[in-house]
Amino acid sequence: MAELVDPRIETFAIPGARVVHGKVFPLGLRVKEGQSFADIDEAVSHIEALADQGTLDSLLTDHSTILFRGFPLANASDFSRFVQAFKLPNQHQEVGLSGIRTTVNGFVKTANEEPSDVKFYYHSEYGRSAHFPGLLFFFSEVVPESGGQTPLLSSLELYDELKRQLPEFIQALADKGVIGRQYFPSKDDPEAAHIGWNWHDSYGFDIVPGDSLEEQHRKVEAVLRDRLQAEGEWQDRNGALYVLQRLPALRRVQSTGKPSFFNGLMGVYGRARDNNALEPPYKGLDQKYHLPTTYGDGSPIPYETLDKVLEIADSIGFLVPWQVGDVAHIDNYTVQHARTPWVGDRSLLVSLWDGREKFVKY
Ligand SMILES: [Fe+2]
Repeated sequence: MAELVDPRIETFAIPGARVVHGKVFPLGLRVKEGQSFADIDEAVSHIEALADQGTLDSLLTDHSTILFRGFPLANASDFSRFVQAFKLPNQHQEVGLSGIRTTVNGFVKTANEEPSDVKFYYHSEYGRSAHFPGLLFFFSEVVPESGGQTPLLSSLELYDELKRQLPEFIQALADKGVIGRQYFPSKDDPEAAHIGWNWHDSYGFDIVPGDSLEEQHRKVEAVLRDRLQAEGEWQDRNGALYVLQRLPALRRVQSTGKPSFFNGLMGVYGRARDNNALEPPYKGLDQKYHLPTTYGDGSPIPYETLDKVLEIADSIGFLVPWQVGDVAHIDNYTVQHARTPWVGDRSLLVSLWDGREKFVKY
């Protein structure tokens, strides 16, 4: 284990933390008793020094998540300064629609603005896309009356458990990969307003007045192919577009060689199940479409298998109840996160960065 020897900060055991491959997950870092930082400036320069030594990097590699507690962060601007202290080279540029986020300042966004009663199942951030961030920071600015938590699990431990309990599923994922699908209505479909997006606005950048429908389709397909490595499937019944993303569901972390369950499978399935949207046309109680992810050859992933995957995930999931001012620094390559519904006011802010890590073929 990378050791932290520091006059002002110490590691602390988080009750019930898991041990994954011999390392505590997640690792807590807090300000030592009797020590305090006078203000955010002092805290930032201390963090900067640790970052310069490579200490934070190696702790994150070992533990996959670091929870910082007791540091003097009060608002988005403090959070922004805190994340910059890590001196990560590249802020992540998001491509493609995934939830609703508002930029608060240059490095900080709201985590997600979907209603507080919606549960998010475990997912790798942008695990449904070929373009994803490597490192995440979450900042707990306001903790609600109840709920609003961010459960975590180790994608390494999940892989191990699935391989042990559902070996045929892991083999099928390894052999075939997956195809994720997203639904984009036509702009003139009355449902488009409720769904919140449509293919003309999301991908029709090159469409000009007078283009035939065929020409519009061709241009949208080119955008999907060139910018997202995705394919389009046009729906005759209502002019909607399915965007198909062919991806591996298992990958190997380059620096450690460990396999990781990196994908959006549970997020998509859990939400479809909650919305009673498991049969064609996959329209849910929320009046949105929840298209299933299939194996890469188009064959269905049995729902019983996915139910079991969710159950296994819950059995290894871990929750550190948020305290005001907490920052969680998460390695997206090896950790999936979720969101529980809440009551009351909540503010969780996020900052996304490209990683130094890489995935290689499973
Ligand atoms: Fe997320």
